[in-house]
Amino acid sequence: MKIAVAGTGYVGLVTGTCLAEVGHSVTCVDVDEKKIKIMESGISPIYEEGLQDLMQKNYASGHIRYTTDYQSAYKNAEVIFIGVGTPEMPDGSCNLSYVKAVVEQIAASIERDCLVVVKSTVPIGTNEKIEKMLKDNLKHDVHVEVASNPEFLAQGTAVRDTLNASRIVIGTESKKAEETLKKVYANFGVPIVSVNRRSAEMIKYASNDFLALKISYMNDLANLCELVGADVKDVAHGMSFDARIGDRFLNPGIGYGGSCFPKDTKALKSLAADLGYDLKTVSAAIEVNALQQKRLYTKAKAAGVDFKGLKVAVLGLAFKAGTDDLREASSLKHVPLFLEEGANIVAFDPVARKNFERFYPEGDNLNGSIKYVDTAVEALKDADICFIMTEWSEIKKLKAEDFTGNMKSAVVYDGRNLYEPEDMKNAGIEYYCIGR
Ligand SMILES: NC(=O)c1ccc[n+]([C@@H]2O[C@H](COP(=O)([O-])OP(=O)(O)OC[C@H]3O[C@@H](n4cnc5c(N)ncnc54)[C@H](O)[C@@H]3O)[C@@H](O)[C@H]2O)c1
Repeated sequence: MKIAVAGTGYVGLVTGTCLAEVGHSVTCVDVDEKKIKIMESGISPIYEEGLQDLMQKNYASGHIRYTTDYQSAYKNAEVIFIGVGTPEMPDGSCNLSYVKAVVEQIAASIERDCLVVVKSTVPIGTNEKIEKMLKDNLKHDVHVEVASNPEFLAQGTAVRDTLNASRIVIGTESKKAEETLKKVYANFGVPIVSVNRRSAEMIKYASNDFLALKISYMNDLANLCELVGADVKDVAHGMSFDARIGDRFLNPGIGYGGSCFPKDTKALKSLAADLGYDLKTVSAAIEVNALQQKRLYTKAKAAGVDFKGLKVAVLGLAFKAGTDDLREASSLKHVPLFLEEGANIVAFDPVARKNFERFYPEGDNLNGSIKYVDTAVEALKDADICFIMTEWSEIKKLKAEDFTGNMKSAVVYDGRNLYEPEDMKNAGIEYYCIGR
């Protein structure tokens, strides 16, 4: 099928590439000319395992192309996916300005009947508004319908998640739209959950907010475990045998980050508030997360750490392993606090360094300074204290000797519970983790 995808971010580019991989003819559209040039040269503008290889393969076979010329991309497309960002507004509600801009461009461009599919996460009822907006602004006499098809991929495993999705949710209001989307996904061979548009929009928020709740619950519980002398790892293990609970998302840490959970919790809370409903559970998840994202700093301060002039090793910057994304990363909450107090930071991240440098360029910063190095061990050299922010395998595989042998004083704050507290203590490391 002839498909266009608006937006080549984590969702749009992975979706476009995977649709090309199963045989569709895909045109990816972005407003960012630099990005288009990079992709045309065979390089992925984002880090996702396996993505670049698939992009190159499908570009070579002519299944995918990239352009800023939206008109040529949309005018003859049978299906147009919208995968642009829906960030949060200062009041927590969902910013639909990028979606609206795309809708205007689509309305001005389409010259044949087509299905517009909203992949971006949007508040319940938005698909309906998009359809009306499209119909009100059409330049040509064509039939257009809108379907919801929320995305469930996780950054770091996006390609795998898309090609082997647990389910594909489609929200449609007509048999024709439902059949078209089923045809798009026919070669994926995964279960399709077909519901109406509002339910599909809600499934996305309900799923993300449930996972955010699960994370915040375990983080809250981990903090209590520290006070009562329980080990949260053992507690989670004991809980996991109950099939109603399951064994995933029970690892405590320094809060959820990324481009989805933080904004999707706030957006649902805001949508509920607009309707006069107080979504208390989700509000609690947001509140717990805000505190947890600074948890290592809070712990260090409680232990009497004075950051002035301290050499601080920061291991990991990305919001989670497998991605270069920094949106809502705990590192971005901690680093300014360290710098404010006069720390000299040496940071390591295998892929997110460049993105972090945009916020904190190398050199003096606030009352301290920041420097970037290529390996975790280099960051540890002569450090007074170490903070672990991301569960990268390069960091996980460090041995106790790497800390004791390189640091000036082996004080480690581990936000990802990467090591056994007993082993670290036996090696002479002052080791702090979460809930153990
Ligand atoms: N990132 C994730 O893990 C994830 C997972 C599931 C759902 N989502 C949802 O998917 C949507 C996209 O998220 P993302 O992380 O991929 O965003 P992103 O910020 O990485 O990418 C958005 C892209 O859209 C482009 N863009 C903006 N306006 C455009 C226009 N008029 N035409 C074409 N391109 C345009 C931008 O230049 C950018 O490249 C959001 O609604 C998000 O909530 C994201």
